[in-house]
Amino acid sequence: MLTPKRKILLTSALPYANGPIHLGHLVEYIQTDIWSRFQKMRGHDCYYVCADDAHGTPIMLRAEKLGITPEALIEQVSAEHQRDFAAFAVDFDYYYSTHSDENRELAETIYTRLRDGGHITTRNVEQAYDPEKEMFLPDRFVKGECPRCHTPDQYGDNCEACGATYSPSELINPVSAVSGATPVTRSSEHYFFCLQHFSDMLRDWIKQGHVQEEMANKLSEWLDNELREWDISRDAPYFGFEIPDAPGKYFYVWLDAPIGYMASFKKLCAKKGLDFDEFWGADAKTELYHFIGKDIVYFHALFWPAMLEGAGFRKPSGIFTHGFLTVNGEKMSKSRGTFIKASTYLNHLNPEYLRYYFAAKLGNNVQDLDLNFDDFSSRVNSDLVGKVVNIASRCAGFINKRFDGVLSTEISEPDLLAELVAAGDHIAASYENRDYNRAMREIMALADRANQYIDHKQPWVVAKEKGKDAELHQICSMGINLFRLLITYLKPVLPITTEKAEAFLNVQPINWDARTQPLSGHRINPFKPLMTRIDPKAIEAIIDAERDALGVRPEGSALRVPGKMSEAESEKKIEKKVAKKTEKPEATDTDIISFDDFAKVDLRIALIAKAEHVEGADKLLQLTLDLGEMGTRNVFAGIKSAYQPEDLEGKLTVYVANLAPRKMRFGISEGMVLAAGPGGEDLWILEPHAGAQPGMKVK
Ligand code: MSP
Ligand code: ZN
Repeated sequence: MLTPKRKILLTSALPYANGPIHLGHLVEYIQTDIWSRFQKMRGHDCYYVCADDAHGTPIMLRAEKLGITPEALIEQVSAEHQRDFAAFAVDFDYYYSTHSDENRELAETIYTRLRDGGHITTRNVEQAYDPEKEMFLPDRFVKGECPRCHTPDQYGDNCEACGATYSPSELINPVSAVSGATPVTRSSEHYFFCLQHFSDMLRDWIKQGHVQEEMANKLSEWLDNELREWDISRDAPYFGFEIPDAPGKYFYVWLDAPIGYMASFKKLCAKKGLDFDEFWGADAKTELYHFIGKDIVYFHALFWPAMLEGAGFRKPSGIFTHGFLTVNGEKMSKSRGTFIKASTYLNHLNPEYLRYYFAAKLGNNVQDLDLNFDDFSSRVNSDLVGKVVNIASRCAGFINKRFDGVLSTEISEPDLLAELVAAGDHIAASYENRDYNRAMREIMALADRANQYIDHKQPWVVAKEKGKDAELHQICSMGINLFRLLITYLKPVLPITTEKAEAFLNVQPINWDARTQPLSGHRINPFKPLMTRIDPKAIEAIIDAERDALGVRPEGSALRVPGKMSEAESEKKIEKKVAKKTEKPEATDTDIISFDDFAKVDLRIALIAKAEHVEGADKLLQLTLDLGEMGTRNVFAGIKSAYQPEDLEGKLTVYVANLAPRKMRFGISEGMVLAAGPGGEDLWILEPHAGAQPGMKVK
């Protein structure tokens, strides 16, 4: 070891057990996993733990809706989460649940110590209460009209249309989202953690470099205002842990969630014989880091250190905050198909493409990062496939065919090799500092150097010349050694490819220090392609799959229905309202098109030859249209709410013949039929009179 062995415990935020893992989450888990793999590769004792965040009202209600117990729900979701993480090669040393015995015990210990230390207080709180369901309602479960802009159906804490924030009691005509009943205001006793007792400690702690500088500034702003007590209890019914001395009161999910980091590690200790106190004791000398998103800084940089201090545990060495993921420059959106689930991505693309792309974008800062699909494809194709994998494939064939798979014992360009070895120190420093983007740039610059070497030496030319076997052998062996160094540096980011490369190179799992020793006189295995280029169709398929899953009305179906909005449209409407508020120039409701534009639409009479239900689609019917001499067309139309298939067969309608075909989950839709009406049952396809002939142009 060049550096003394460190003992490091890492965590990522615990994902809620009520939804699937999406690409936004993966920013964090991939970021942490790269760091964990890097530290392990450097020979340190590094442990990476996580868990599902299993408690709270949303999970309780969702289970109820599904007709299962919360325990069954969280078990199912945990299995899905772990399957997705494993597929993205996120390698936890332990993955647990906050609904565990260890977590209950630790939460009780921490609470009791805080209480005995005089840091817990109680007082009455008024809150919205559902008299039918007999439960208090979190703000998100009260809906009503915004008191400011009067948009209906807004959540109890803020208005999506005008951005106003308020309390649920201010909503006009409030209803409980759970039962539809009108909520009443009711008072009950709540337990509070006295955060303000820790103001001085937190002020000092923030200044000691435990958080990034931009976060320290933000936190200092918060600390300039007086800290308030934090409400840590919720009344039954609640899915969580009951407070030991307060029957019917439960710990608020955010109290036991971070304690879940300790609980997961405790479980790992039991499994591996590790010393829990060495990592969590008040004067632990080990390192503890939490990776989190910028939305949960308050919990991790204020509440959490205060709780730990108050209960006699150590505080984190560092809190590493990252920004949010946007897709193609915008917030991830279900209707645009850019709210991409991990599992959808995995159906179409190699997980390591995303690991590399995130690494290439992530720095040690809190800025949002954008997944731009064009940029994504070109980086993966040109860097990984074009530069890195390419070197191995250019050299391996000659070594195997001409030299029996054995590398030369001479190194032809020791200086170049030494240069790549030396660069490892700098790359390691970039990883250590979580400047992965910088590390990737440095590695790709080395890959360029390696490719220049091969281009210059032209082994494919040398191979044809007589008596130059030794030279060919050395060039290709050099190429393989350069490839090995590049793979060493990429190993934290590309563990799956690295494993394949290790098999090809016929070496033990690569660590950082082994790189100083080149492979010489060493036998390698036949080369198999390590990675292929991104097929742009795969990206389209991902976006289509997300939109189809939502049932967003595709362009290939019936004409848009006035009065009934798809999610995309309602989002647009909200954007418009916001635009209005901010007094940007306003778009008119209808975009004017010229007559010439309109004349481009090729409208034809079509006979509905066949109409059928589509399995798995609740809005679509599949129509086979007879267009006379033009032949037949297949169209998916969103008119199932208004028509039975048998009512449609034999009818004439109007068809848009020159609309680009659209690939849907169920097949290809070739154009669309026209319909009008307010929606639901009240939707009518256009029906020309019986004399019209299929295929005839509509004038
Ligand atoms: N359960 C809490 C965390 C408790 S930690 C003691 C939670 N869960 S979450 O599922 O909503 O988010 C988990 C992590 O993913 C958080 O760090 C969050 O910031 C991160 N992300 C969720 N969506 C994200 C993006 N779109 N982009 C980047 N990170 C995102 O919060
Ligand atoms: Zn509003």
